[in-house]
Amino acid sequence: MYKHLVLGAGLLFASTALAAPVPQTKVASNGGYIVVLKDTVKNFESHIEWARSVHKRNLAKRDLDERTYSGIDFTYTGNNHFNGYAGHFDPDTVEEFRNSGDVDSMEEDQDWTIGTIDVPESEADEEEEEEELETRDITEQKNATWGLRSISHRQPGGDNYIYDENAGADTYAYVIDSGIRITHEEFEGRAEQAWTAYGDDHEDKIGHGTHCAATIGGKNYGVTKKTKLIGVKVFDQNSTTTSIIIEGIAWAFDDIIAKNRVGKAVLSMSLGGTYSPTMNRILKNAARHGIIPVAAAGNDAQDISKGSPSSAEGVITVGAIDSDWTVYEKSNFGKNLSLYAPGVMIESAGHTNDTSIVKKTGTSMACPHVAGLALYAMTVDGITGTDNVKKHLLKNATPDKIYGDLNGSPNLIANNGNSQQE
Ligand SMILES: *[C@@H]1O[C@H](CO)[C@@H](O)[C@H](O)[C@H]1NC(C)=O
Ligand SMILES: *[C@@H]1O[C@H](CO)[C@@H](O)[C@H](O)[C@H]1NC(C)=O
Ligand SMILES: *[C@@H]1O[C@H](CO)[C@@H](O)[C@H](O)[C@H]1NC(C)=O
Ligand SMILES: *[C@@H]1O[C@H](CO)[C@@H](O)[C@H](O)[C@H]1NC(C)=O
Repeated sequence: MYKHLVLGAGLLFASTALAAPVPQTKVASNGGYIVVLKDTVKNFESHIEWARSVHKRNLAKRDLDERTYSGIDFTYTGNNHFNGYAGHFDPDTVEEFRNSGDVDSMEEDQDWTIGTIDVPESEADEEEEEEELETRDITEQKNATWGLRSISHRQPGGDNYIYDENAGADTYAYVIDSGIRITHEEFEGRAEQAWTAYGDDHEDKIGHGTHCAATIGGKNYGVTKKTKLIGVKVFDQNSTTTSIIIEGIAWAFDDIIAKNRVGKAVLSMSLGGTYSPTMNRILKNAARHGIIPVAAAGNDAQDISKGSPSSAEGVITVGAIDSDWTVYEKSNFGKNLSLYAPGVMIESAGHTNDTSIVKKTGTSMACPHVAGLALYAMTVDGITGTDNVKKHLLKNATPDKIYGDLNGSPNLIANNGNSQQE
């Protein structure tokens, strides 16, 4: 019932600075449940009516508190994925649901927390000077971040970002995160606040989503500088639940299908937490529909099979390396990890104003590099289909250049495959 929780971005610090530990948060289940109905249940409404009546009857019988047991909080009603619902139910109701012939599976809902701390100004400045020294020679984007340089070169320390200018045109990155500050200069009007689980509150209050979105498609910090960025807000401040994340994924899934964006869309999920069969199920299903799900490996230094979405079939799961191409010590790992990308001291857009820039560390920062590269593969190389895009990314990746203990993960660094690199 009490599950170990996750975090998107860990603490940021220069490698020489005193290393504060990444906050590890333990949280209780919030008393909620996620209920998945069998595909054979044709009349969703009548099941919901039945579920509501069971809940009502059991509350009355035991004189239970409606604030603790709120009943169905929201439903999942996609044509493309499972039908079901999330809510808070008393033990008798839970038991009746389990025994219902309509119910395929149930899981306890969990609270999630993102821990993000920006690199303090002083440390960020120090690093800046070093970067400027390194980036004197210019070819394409001369002042690119070390992350962009690393995904376009076969050796660490490359001095520019080599990329195709049209990368990302007519594509969509669904950023399942804390929201996006769409007015930030990095986005040039290409970002949209499309969906939120919090009424009409789309605001990114912690900067995690804005930072990741700009790494995918920002004009300076982005991998694919023409893509559209679709904000799907599933975190308010730093917290959310499994059921809410699944709701955001379900919305994005349906939106991609409804707008004929299969073949030109990715789901970028810089998040990780307790293993969730329901989350894995919907992502596997999305991948089967040709939607590309990309996920952070997580920052718990454990096997990716222990968490979600990192363990979902069909997902491209991304670990993190630093600028020396050494594996990030907190990065999750495993045989099924897909590849690594830059994730330590990554500079990108901040959320406090339209020009702010911050550095963050974590596999959360590695994931958007690969989400951008998936869109790059679709637009520059004409690759479509989840398996094909994944194969293409693995084929283009730089092999055997990561230092450190990979714990059985493949030694591959994401790369855009440009022909000019050495
Ligand atoms: C989450 O945000 C709250 C409120 O801003 C803060 O008190 C708490 O320390 C944060 N937790 C983590 C893990 O960052
Ligand atoms: C790169 O240079 C351009 C033009 O000088 C500037 O607008 C931009 O902010 C710089 N980008 C980075 C990542 O420093
Ligand atoms: C890797 O993924 C496959 C397919 O999803 C699964 O069967 C296998 O158990 C996974 N291996 C590990 C080590 O998690
Ligand atoms: C924007 O925010 C940054 C901190 O990220 C700050 O240093 C800068 O002064 C702010 N700029 C404006 C115009 O408020």
